[in-house]
Amino acid sequence: MERHTVIANWKMHGNQAEGVALARGVRRLLGNRFPAVEVVLAPPFTSLETVRRAIKGSRLHLSAQNLHWQPQGAFTGEVGADMLRDAGCSHVIVGHSERRRLFGETNGDVGRKLAAALDASLKPVLCIGETLRERRDGRTRQTLSAQLSGALKGVSKSVKDCLILAYEPVWAIGTGTNAAPAQVMETHGWIRQALVRRFGAAQARHIPILYGGSVNPANASELAAVPEVDGVLVGGASLDHRSFVEIVNAFSGREA
Ligand code: 13P
Repeated sequence: MERHTVIANWKMHGNQAEGVALARGVRRLLGNRFPAVEVVLAPPFTSLETVRRAIKGSRLHLSAQNLHWQPQGAFTGEVGADMLRDAGCSHVIVGHSERRRLFGETNGDVGRKLAAALDASLKPVLCIGETLRERRDGRTRQTLSAQLSGALKGVSKSVKDCLILAYEPVWAIGTGTNAAPAQVMETHGWIRQALVRRFGAAQARHIPILYGGSVNPANASELAAVPEVDGVLVGGASLDHRSFVEIVNAFSGREA
């Protein structure tokens, strides 16, 4: 795969002014020598519009962090895929472990969300990952397998160039301890094989597999050197524009 993808997941951080400052900072630092990396910003819903304006005319992409599977209706507090398209999003994060763990999202929910995103031509960033307990019990593959089949069950049309996978081991998220490159290599290799079995080699080749979990400027280069890693999904370190751009640069193969 030629291009890497680096996504900033701001989670529930920042008001509109802070979001715009962050987006402008990223835009400025990436500047005219914009690297050959797909760079995506995922602000909270309330900052989508202001960030959209701040990145207009640049090569930055806009993502939401969640969606509902219904297009509209009496679903208080929810936002549908077409609404996100209308707000300028090209991507949407689906099945983040915080959604699964804190808000009770099931594999079935994630599957419905993924299908709704694809139907609306939003590129879903499907997050999967095992807990520490599952890893210790030797159930990593079983967990990932259930998450993948739950999410991809209803997907029949071609997913070439319209799906991104993110492997985010729950134990590495927000802990300061990233998964070791050897663990990432092994797990990404297994995910790739699972995608080949599901979609065939020709399509599976075009699905980027990102790593997420305590990515920062200090470990980005060693993760970028793992051949199976097609990019990263960054939480905490994406809240500082310099750190985030350093990570982007690590994936562009150029000096910061
Ligand atoms: P951290 O980079 O803060 O560990 O978060 C990772 C994550 O959850 C990105 O979606």
